[in-house]
Amino acid sequence: MPNAPYLDASVRWKLKSGAIAFREPRTAEVAAQLLDCGLVTEVVQIIGAGKEADVFLARDGPRWVVAKSYRLYRTSNRSHGAVKADGMGHLASREFELLGYAWAHRAPVPEPLAREENAFTMEFIGGSEGPAPQLRRTTLEEPEEFARALLVGVEDLAHAGIVHTDLSPFNVLVDGGRPVIIDLGKGLRVDRLGSSPWIRLNEARTALLHGLEMLRRYFARYGVPFETADATAGILRDLDRFGVGSDGE
Ligand SMILES: Nc1ncnc2c1ncn2[C@@H]1O[C@H](COP(=O)(O)OP(=O)(O)OP(=O)(O)O)[C@@H](O)[C@H]1O
Ligand SMILES: [Mg+2]
Repeated sequence: MPNAPYLDASVRWKLKSGAIAFREPRTAEVAAQLLDCGLVTEVVQIIGAGKEADVFLARDGPRWVVAKSYRLYRTSNRSHGAVKADGMGHLASREFELLGYAWAHRAPVPEPLAREENAFTMEFIGGSEGPAPQLRRTTLEEPEEFARALLVGVEDLAHAGIVHTDLSPFNVLVDGGRPVIIDLGKGLRVDRLGSSPWIRLNEARTALLHGLEMLRRYFARYGVPFETADATAGILRDLDRFGVGSDGE
């Protein structure tokens, strides 16, 4: 993320003189934008405000949906103005795209529905009592079964060519005993050519070891074992279509 604005002088002047409002829209404005662009017909309430996005419970006609709107601007603490973080708009399309691949491969993720610029809608995970809780904030009735299903979910994502780089008990929802993996915005696609497959496999290994370790620590509180090294090695073998990975690391 750039610390110094890359904007050219004329734009900087307009910002300084107040000709462009360079600030993050407030939550109510974000909600209004979601309605304006036609992604949803009603915004019901905010259900998550993370570092990079606001997440709303909303309706699209009769259907409950969740709308995630990435912030376009981020305040830089080194300069006085805000810095436009171009990548944020890109994250919405990336997350939407990755959800599409994952969903098509029947991985346990919310179904992606529609996208407009820096926001998209997806299936609402939850019920009449509200959104499904994060794994972090709930007590599992069948932790062993859940752990198994979650590992299968991570493998399903890998079959779709995706490795989640931010896997943790915060980004797993518990939907009536079933795991649903969310927040794929920074996921890696490992099945595409482009950068070297070997580099991607290494990135995937680092992300998997880290994510599975977070989950292992979580399940330890139930005394439920959770594989990390073996699971990572197995997933990497699946992902390594070119036979370039080194075994056993
Ligand atoms: N499809 C969904 N159904 C129900 N709840 C959801 C859904 N997607 C997101 N949420 C809720 O919104 C929260 C934030 O979503 P997400 O993790 O995608 O956003 P984020 O901006 O990355 O947040 P953070 O920075 O806190 O990780 C989730 O923890 C979850 O509680
Ligand atoms: Mg999250």
